[in-house]
Amino acid sequence: MEKVEVGIIGFGTVGAGTYEVLKKNADVIRSRVGADVMVKKIADLDLDSDRGVEIDRSILTTKASEIIDDPDIQVVVELIGGLGHAKDYILAAMDKGKHVVTANKALLAEHGHELYTKAKECGVSLEFEASVGGGIPIIGAMKGGLSANRFKNIMGILNGTSNYILTKMNKYYWPYEKVVKEAVDLGYAEDPPTLDVDGTDAAHKLAILISLAYGGPVAFKDIYREGITSLTPDDIRFAQEFGYCVKLLALARDRGDAVEARVHPVMIPTDHILANVNWAYNAIYVEGDFVGPNLYYGLGAGRRPTGSAVAADIIELSRRIVRGEKGPLPPLAHYGKGEKKITIKPMDSLTMSYYFRFSAVDRPGVLSKISGVLGEHDISITSVIQKGREVNGPVPVVMLTHEALEKNVKKAISVIDKLDVVTDRTIIIRVERGM
Ligand code: HSE
Repeated sequence: MEKVEVGIIGFGTVGAGTYEVLKKNADVIRSRVGADVMVKKIADLDLDSDRGVEIDRSILTTKASEIIDDPDIQVVVELIGGLGHAKDYILAAMDKGKHVVTANKALLAEHGHELYTKAKECGVSLEFEASVGGGIPIIGAMKGGLSANRFKNIMGILNGTSNYILTKMNKYYWPYEKVVKEAVDLGYAEDPPTLDVDGTDAAHKLAILISLAYGGPVAFKDIYREGITSLTPDDIRFAQEFGYCVKLLALARDRGDAVEARVHPVMIPTDHILANVNWAYNAIYVEGDFVGPNLYYGLGAGRRPTGSAVAADIIELSRRIVRGEKGPLPPLAHYGKGEKKITIKPMDSLTMSYYFRFSAVDRPGVLSKISGVLGEHDISITSVIQKGREVNGPVPVVMLTHEALEKNVKKAISVIDKLDVVTDRTIIIRVERGM
């Protein structure tokens, strides 16, 4: 075999990066595959915008069917993203016996099981390195180098946009709205960056990592998610007074019969290994029972890093095609047990430590009212800060707790928020002290 032919559906940022790396590094890739990897066609509805890459326009088409129906194309790359037509194109390509590469985290998180089952039925591979962590090869690591391990603990900074926003808040105490406006103006964030800042994007990526780690589908809706939009510079300052910074973390832990899975802002000690992962960088901390802790760090988005990850999948598939390998590896790299649904532990049943910021009137007895309600719900306080006194105005009362049950915390806060001495909704940030 002298060449492997590839079709790309979707010529946006990632499509352009994928095409660029396959062209620019064609010689290196050839020597690593043992054949040329050629992009035969690229489909996109917009053929006019400048993507900043030189391209032979004769390979462009507006019809995805020209790729799916082309008998010479062995690998179809889906890069249009989202939950719309992408799935139909992937299923149609598999029906035609083509291997598929995708970066579509939303589709994998919400319809992964259907796609993995279809790939198995059609005897084709489905690869998705670029779906989590952009250029970071975390999927390959979990399927390959870490595959001897049981995964005990995964902690990730999986969304670059929210990490950029939080970095600016942690360093300069800018209010959330000001950072978002700047990030949008500079083109770092989408306008509005809803799925990035509300935790959905990170939860999609976490669902994929959990499926890979434990070998089965996850009900995406069972993953608890909460975004960064309620955080204020005051919370950042208080967190720092306690020796913490605030990050949006995606967490998964093996709890025996179920998996703990959640995405929300977390206070981590300033000397925590993830505390210095700043700006648009992503990082994934993975702990295996034999390998111990591993850390993966890099750019989680962008044309070149994400193009690099998509191309890695194309290269791996091309190698298998060139070797004439029969029977693809199952997408989640698990045999047999691959259909077993993974149970997610209900959020209410988890225990952890908390930061609370109450807005309260500054009057004798207020602190004892609040701490009384916490005590009634079995929530024990470790530290308290109360600062500033506005004439007749509310003051922030900040507390850190020992480990408490999430269910009790929700109940206690709903009682506290109704007290006549409390003037605004209480801000809750969960605290992680160790790894
Ligand atoms: N929008 C994502 C982020 C990158 O901000 O990290 C693509 O997954």
